[in-house]
Amino acid sequence: MAEVRQSEDRLRALVEAGVAISSELSLDALLQRLVEKAAELTGARYAALGVIDSAGTELERFVTTGIEPDEHAAIGELPRGRGILGALIREAEPLRLHNLTEDARSAGFPENHPPMRSFLGVPIMLRGVPYGNFYLTEKAAGEDFTDEDQELVTLLAAQAAVAVDNARLYEAATNWSRQLESLNEVGNALAIETDVSRLLDLIARRLRDLLDARVIAVVLPGAGDELRFVAVAGEGTEELLGQTTTRTTSKSGRVLERGRSERVDSVLDDPDVSPEVTRLLGARTGLWVPLIGRQGAIGVIEAHDKLGSDARFTDNDLRIAEAFATRAAVAVELSERIERESFRRVVNAQELERRRLARELHDETGQALTSILLGLRALEETLETDESRAATSQLRELVVATLQDVRRLALELRPSALDDFGLVAALENLASTFGEQTGIAVDFGAALGEERLPAEVETALYRIVQESLTNVVKHARARHVSIALSKREGSVKAVVEDDGQGFDPAQVDGGFGLVGMGERLALLGGRLRIESNAESGTTIAVDVPVP
Ligand SMILES: Nc1ncnc2c1ncn2[C@@H]1O[C@H](COP(=O)(O)OP(=O)(O)OP(=O)(O)O)[C@@H](O)[C@H]1O
Ligand SMILES: [Mg+2]
Repeated sequence: MAEVRQSEDRLRALVEAGVAISSELSLDALLQRLVEKAAELTGARYAALGVIDSAGTELERFVTTGIEPDEHAAIGELPRGRGILGALIREAEPLRLHNLTEDARSAGFPENHPPMRSFLGVPIMLRGVPYGNFYLTEKAAGEDFTDEDQELVTLLAAQAAVAVDNARLYEAATNWSRQLESLNEVGNALAIETDVSRLLDLIARRLRDLLDARVIAVVLPGAGDELRFVAVAGEGTEELLGQTTTRTTSKSGRVLERGRSERVDSVLDDPDVSPEVTRLLGARTGLWVPLIGRQGAIGVIEAHDKLGSDARFTDNDLRIAEAFATRAAVAVELSERIERESFRRVVNAQELERRRLARELHDETGQALTSILLGLRALEETLETDESRAATSQLRELVVATLQDVRRLALELRPSALDDFGLVAALENLASTFGEQTGIAVDFGAALGEERLPAEVETALYRIVQESLTNVVKHARARHVSIALSKREGSVKAVVEDDGQGFDPAQVDGGFGLVGMGERLALLGGRLRIESNAESGTTIAVDVPVP
């Protein structure tokens, strides 16, 4: 009679356990509850739940009860699933033993492990596949586990399977909503935030949260071979910000070049990963995802070391990182566009101002000086003495010289020919004035046809040729210069060539001339090519696309 009541009590406890565990939605908390319930139901002093990894061969998690944290620490590493635990993983059948250590399959205990004799192991099956096992040892009062214990734990395992499934689904759903939330936040930020480094910073931080990565970094190409860390998230990684690596030696460089994402489970074994970067980031695993812009890869997001027991990233992580990379690419392109637009405004405003000044100088100051000149001539005729005539004549020469200066200045600021007659006429004037003033022989050839180019293109080409000629006077010691304009399908080309002493284009710093040319061309989607050496002088060649 007492036995029956006891059995009923235990079953009731089992039902209660079922209710308790089914309300637990966090997988970690659920597993902990499950081991505790299993220990309670069976009177086991120690209980554990091992979760089998995706390969089905080892344990990826091991949740215990009955062992104090300091005992845990003294034992060291958690079991991976050898010995008896391994047998249970392979066979997926309940196993009951009187003395664990006497079984032939036992792998023995590590040092500092409490003694464990009686043993009950029960598999937890999830949709026909082993998910994990309950391990119970040391039944109270040195007894062995009974048939009833085994049955109860088997029932608990069935409930556990359902609860685990729920918790997993719930976690997947929560992860989804977290992902959506983060993506949404980044999307909103894209609409209102114009500071690209703040945007990339947000992207790095959110991605790090979602992936549970130790570190996330965003790299963008800098000058030449350089790749720069423009955003990083992760503890102790602040000093990485602003550091550079090279395209040719780094994994990010390769990914940028190939434009394809890559997942690396062991950084040390990957031939692309430079030791320098491994040291810089201290990475074990990595995900590299390119930021794909309208014209190919424009940067890379890298993630390293998933936190937790397994540092490897999953396919799902890769997809999340790609979703973030898409947004980062938009952010980078947007900010570049904004930067270009504001530069364009500055250039246009400058050109307008120059035009206004040139007109004023030419029309107003020039006219005034001309009037003075005419007045002086009239005055000269009425003068009586040679002395006063000579003085007036001197004054007249001075005015003539000033008038020439004013015209030259106006021309330099902005020749009216550029607006009135177009690029070819303006450059023709420029070339001949240049030849007269410097004594350097100039060839000018233009094969553009009659059609005018867009005003922005005409101005840019004029300024580039003007700066090139100024450089020839200032630096080249040339005897001869040629200027050639030509038009091909969809683009206009201008080439300025001198036979001077040349220079090393890679070693240039300080001047604004060449840099300014490059920037103007970038606005128009054009290209600048500089070839220079001591033997053949300097060639500046530019290409600008035109409709
Ligand atoms: N045609 C050339 N022949 C020889 N050296 C040149 C020529 N063009 C440029 N250089 C060299 O390249 C450097 C950079 O030219 P850049 O026009 O950028 O600057 P800069 O002329 O020195 O100064 P800025 O143009 O700002 O007045 C020059 O200092 C000069 O050393
Ligand atoms: Mg210059």
